[in-house]
Amino acid sequence: MLHYKMYGSSTNTIVLLHGFCENNTCFNEQVFFLKDHYKVITIDLPGFGNSEVEPGVTIDQMAKMVQMVLVANNIEKCLLFGHSMGGYVALSFANQFNFMLLGLGLINSTAAADTSERKEKRKKVIEFLLGHGKEAYIKSFIPGLFLPENQNKPYVNKCIIQGIHSKSSGIIEAAKAMMKRPNHYDTLAKINLPVYFGVGMHDAIINPDDIFEQAARCNIAKVVRFNKTAHMCMFEEPELLNNTILSFADYCVNR
Ligand code: MLT
Repeated sequence: MLHYKMYGSSTNTIVLLHGFCENNTCFNEQVFFLKDHYKVITIDLPGFGNSEVEPGVTIDQMAKMVQMVLVANNIEKCLLFGHSMGGYVALSFANQFNFMLLGLGLINSTAAADTSERKEKRKKVIEFLLGHGKEAYIKSFIPGLFLPENQNKPYVNKCIIQGIHSKSSGIIEAAKAMMKRPNHYDTLAKINLPVYFGVGMHDAIINPDDIFEQAARCNIAKVVRFNKTAHMCMFEEPELLNNTILSFADYCVNR
């Protein structure tokens, strides 16, 4: 079973899934804000935080492990948000367990599969990790996820420290899993659920124009532009993220 934390006592549940080289703590600001309104569950994906490495794991299997956490806690339906890699898992969850969702949230994430160029980059990441170790990788990778003017802020250092807690083999397995994931454009159209898109307008990993195009495929989409964010809106614009998650969740629950 994946490691997870649960907060709040509402009957309605928000689940938050972190991204690559992160863990549940990346959502501390969101948990602090949302727990008075919703039950909030933050889950460490395989190989990150306190969850074990799962050799050969796929994004679809990660989604199944998330579903097992919900079943173990008798949660029949939830709102599921994922940051970046967590969004890939959330999309797979929506594809497999649509009936368990009230709404889906993609935060600095995309329904597109990896391009061949991105796959090559991931192979280089794996080589770098094997050659130089996780600490060197995390120190070079994490600051570039933030806007240049944010890179000296204390939260970047916290993300580096949390990233270094990830297991090397967990990072490698996650990179391989992301490389193999399918495109989920059809999922966006077919799930017939409200979908939240948190778009970092200066994101170097996820192109905002691609996300606007993806939002147009959904039956109901809420697009939030984070104008002062690169890839990490939980830290770069936490209040906007908190407020828009809450309003989206309220909409989904009451519609
Ligand atoms: C993440 O933040 O989860 C990753 O950068 C996503 C990715 O590399 O596709």
